[in-house]
Amino acid sequence: MKVLLLVPSPAFSEGLAFFHDELGFTIEKISPAENPSLAELSGHGLTICLDKNADAGPVSLRVVTEDMNLIGTTKVGPNGTRIIFSAKGSDVKLPTSKEAVFAFGDAGHAQWTTGRADMLYRDLLPAGSWDYVASHIKIAGSGKVPDWVHYHDADFQIIYCYKGAAKLVYEDQGDPFMFSAGDCVLQPPLIRHRVLESYDDLEVIEVVAPLNHSTFTDHMMGLPTGKLEPERSFSGQHFIWNQSATRRWDTVNKLGGASFQVGETGISQASGYQGGVRILRPAGSPVTKEPFTPFLKDPRANFTLWFILTGTADCHEQSEDSTRSVNGGDAIVSINSSLGLVGTSFQNYSDDFTVLEVQLPAEVME
Ligand SMILES: [Fe+2]
Repeated sequence: MKVLLLVPSPAFSEGLAFFHDELGFTIEKISPAENPSLAELSGHGLTICLDKNADAGPVSLRVVTEDMNLIGTTKVGPNGTRIIFSAKGSDVKLPTSKEAVFAFGDAGHAQWTTGRADMLYRDLLPAGSWDYVASHIKIAGSGKVPDWVHYHDADFQIIYCYKGAAKLVYEDQGDPFMFSAGDCVLQPPLIRHRVLESYDDLEVIEVVAPLNHSTFTDHMMGLPTGKLEPERSFSGQHFIWNQSATRRWDTVNKLGGASFQVGETGISQASGYQGGVRILRPAGSPVTKEPFTPFLKDPRANFTLWFILTGTADCHEQSEDSTRSVNGGDAIVSINSSLGLVGTSFQNYSDDFTVLEVQLPAEVME
């Protein structure tokens, strides 16, 4: 089978000259020789059928260019073809808001939408257009995931395994591995990867920045690559698979409040301080249960997500002097500010209370 883009050209010779002389297409076939009205032309990965008598409307072509004089301009050829000149990566540019927002996302009232490959998506951010993406994603059951080798041009991307498990494979990071509940990966920019299988009703939390990023298919690379290069730099970042089973926990003693434990993931440093991920849990006496007030890793952070992983607590917001109960699956977010979280404390928490914290940008640590 052969598929050609049908381009009508009532003014045939002018249209032919436009594609050949101006756009650099090659004439593959033309007929009839004495008075042409049909031609096949190829160029830039596209084959067109230029047809004098086609009963069809004019087409538009997007030309990706680095010529600053052309970007943003439109040209109409003599046959009606519109040429829209765009910059690389400018296909989708959604505006983003700089408004400071503090919001709760209640798991009980979550809105789920069906995405690619029957994955269910829940937006953890309040309605609006933010420069961050934070999603709760589910794949029901167990089995193969219809994914392929792909990559993203985001600046920062982490995935935390909330429930279930998945078999993942990453470029130059060895054999496929089992991504289990409690594990977290840092996906550096442009690293090729693929989700192979999911198990036991997989649920993950994904945070990506900026909003305007794209996903690309890699048709050439097979995974695994047979290489294990954990220190390989991808745009200044390196891959992290932080496993729950071997995570390092540090106890922070806090005057006037409960001590708490911080599970470090190493993502802050590995991402070049583009963002950080920590797991927080109270370590105070289960009898006294003083308020647990997590200190923010960076109190000037532009984005903070607290996702309640397990347990229950009463969350007291200092600035509003309001209290609400939180459960596993609830999300607390502060966008374009961290003020709403400074002084926010958890009280009457259950013994298994655990919080995932994702912050951008992270504080630069020594
Ligand atoms: Fe991906």
